[in-house]
Amino acid sequence: MMRRGLLLAMTIAVAMMLAACGRATDEQINQALGITPTPTLTAGGIASATAAATATAEARALALASPAGGGGAALGDVTVGARQFTTWCSGCHGPGGSGPDILKPGVLGAAATSDSFQTLLRDGDGHPTTYKITEIDDKQINDLAAYINSKSGQ
Ligand code: HEC
Repeated sequence: MMRRGLLLAMTIAVAMMLAACGRATDEQINQALGITPTPTLTAGGIASATAAATATAEARALALASPAGGGGAALGDVTVGARQFTTWCSGCHGPGGSGPDILKPGVLGAAATSDSFQTLLRDGDGHPTTYKITEIDDKQINDLAAYINSKSGQ
């Protein structure tokens, strides 16, 4: 009587172990361990995410490559432009400087484009100072134009 009871108990224990080991799904294991699995992208998802990233990169490259006239200046980085202005320009174009206040609303407006700044600052056409490409590069001229543009309005 005793031995049959023991055998039965062992059989049940073994059965439960098998069930526990063999049947648990990944989901159940994750749940038991409190793991949130990282969602995996489907092939379609990856393709569209890649396409979107490529499109953005292309748009940016195009924007940088396009000449300044019109929207060009607006594509510069206003924050970088502000830093450039403090470094190179505010001595003359700030309070008490020898140059006009080009940050005043309505002074330059949309006339501040990378094209006009190239002429002015690189060629010195209409400006007392010029800047070499090693001092202010083309992108920074664009940034400067964007900054002044943002200050003096459209
Ligand atoms: C040494 C002083 C000096 C520095 C430095 C200087 N400027 Fe000027 N800037 C002038 C003067 C003076 C004029 C006016 C020139 C004229 O009217 O013939 C002027 C004119 C301008 C104009 C034309 C304003 C208008 O009414 O059309 C712009 C734009 C300009 N500067 C931008 C800049 C920028 C951007 C920088 C910095 C990269 C800079 N300047 C640095 C002295 C300076």
